[in-house]
Amino acid sequence: MDIMWSLLMTTTLLSAIILYRKIKSAILSSYYSSPLPLGTLGWPFIGETIEFISSALSHSPESFMDKRRRMYGKVFKSHIFGSATIISTDAESSNLKAQITSDMHKYLLESTAKWTEDCPVYIQDETKNIAFQVLVKALIGLDPGHQMDLLKKQFQEFIGGLMSLPINLPGSQLYRSLQAKKKMVKMIHRIIQEKRSRNNIPVVPKDVADVLVSDTSEQLTDDLIAENMIDLMIPGEDSVPVLMTLAIRYLSDCPAALQQLSDENLKLKSLKEKLGHTLSWNDYLSLPFTQTVITETLRMGNVIIGVMRKAKKDVEIKGYCIPKGWCVLAYFRSVHLDEDLYDFPYQFNPWRWQDKEMNICNFTPFGGGQRLCPGLDLARLETSIFLHQFVSQFRWVAEDDSIINFPTVRMKRRMPIWVKRRRDP
Ligand code: HEM
Repeated sequence: MDIMWSLLMTTTLLSAIILYRKIKSAILSSYYSSPLPLGTLGWPFIGETIEFISSALSHSPESFMDKRRRMYGKVFKSHIFGSATIISTDAESSNLKAQITSDMHKYLLESTAKWTEDCPVYIQDETKNIAFQVLVKALIGLDPGHQMDLLKKQFQEFIGGLMSLPINLPGSQLYRSLQAKKKMVKMIHRIIQEKRSRNNIPVVPKDVADVLVSDTSEQLTDDLIAENMIDLMIPGEDSVPVLMTLAIRYLSDCPAALQQLSDENLKLKSLKEKLGHTLSWNDYLSLPFTQTVITETLRMGNVIIGVMRKAKKDVEIKGYCIPKGWCVLAYFRSVHLDEDLYDFPYQFNPWRWQDKEMNICNFTPFGGGQRLCPGLDLARLETSIFLHQFVSQFRWVAEDDSIINFPTVRMKRRMPIWVKRRRDP
């Protein structure tokens, strides 16, 4: 569990890195016309990766960043995971977490207020709607309403064409998808221009676009920012609602886990109410059993079933040759459901993650290395808030449903449940 927490803390830092990744190529392409931040690139090739990882796995995971922040300031250069890297440890990403927590809270309450006890609630649809609102608000600061509905419509049309026949002719799915993307870029472009023209970029950025718009390198054009916002919507839009839906599915089938999760969350809720405090993002992430429930859902659910890589040259792994140009599919499902690694792998058992001896090297729901998912912190935070609000407000009975695993993970019947509002405090 300690190691899990270390990783969680590390990913907090990694989420700040998403910004530099997007900005990095633009900065480097300017051939250093503006000075690079202070810092060192470490050893040839490995850079500072070893120090970074050993700090992440230690009991003071922030030590790597803290040491450099003291020496070079809040933004510095380094070399980790095989790449020269500008690291930002600015307060921006903390602030974004607080903003996301309050938005998520608000949108959840607005959605759940409409739920009634006399017709089923489709958890998959509800979570999809809420997660989209949170994501769009966090990326471009758009509130739910007419524009958000339009964006969602275009986004769904765009996504529909991502796995279609490569025929780009008027009337084809791919054509409609690309047209929808153009409309999205236009909308986001307008929002960015409004931000610039009002000249009111807040000192403390409220969304990712605020951060990018206030960048002074002059490398980030409005089109580039708009494209990047859409790039971030694609992996973020579906995965988090699937995680939330699966958690409700597994909890519905495991009363002991549901009881422990509810007790933990209700206890925190009543403590905060007594103190007159609202819950912060830190409170949500510090609920240990809730975190094990999310971890176990990630293991069993395999929201992303695996990742593909293409060999750029002949590679030898474990005595086999992977020829140049061939693809490798790292199939997470087989690893996460391997009985040599997990006892009774098809059994939902959040308590397994309380075992300090648990080997987490084979647990990769968010990928790893240089392509590690930068949204993992956001995914955990949103799911923690959702579970907290959900078990604090409702009891429920789930109808039968089954999980479909291909081409994407989802529930066959969209996970209908019958809810009853809690009357007890
Ligand atoms: C349960 C939720 C999520 C899961 C399981 C997940 C899983 C993954 C995995 C396995 C990868 C690695 C892909 C590869 O190696 O080719 C990845 C990459 C990525 N994810 Fe996530 N993700 C989740 C949520 C999110 C969210 C909420 C966002 C953003 C808002 C996001 C943004 C990204 C991006 C931008 C990449 C590409 C990173 C790169 O290529 O450097 N993800 N994700």
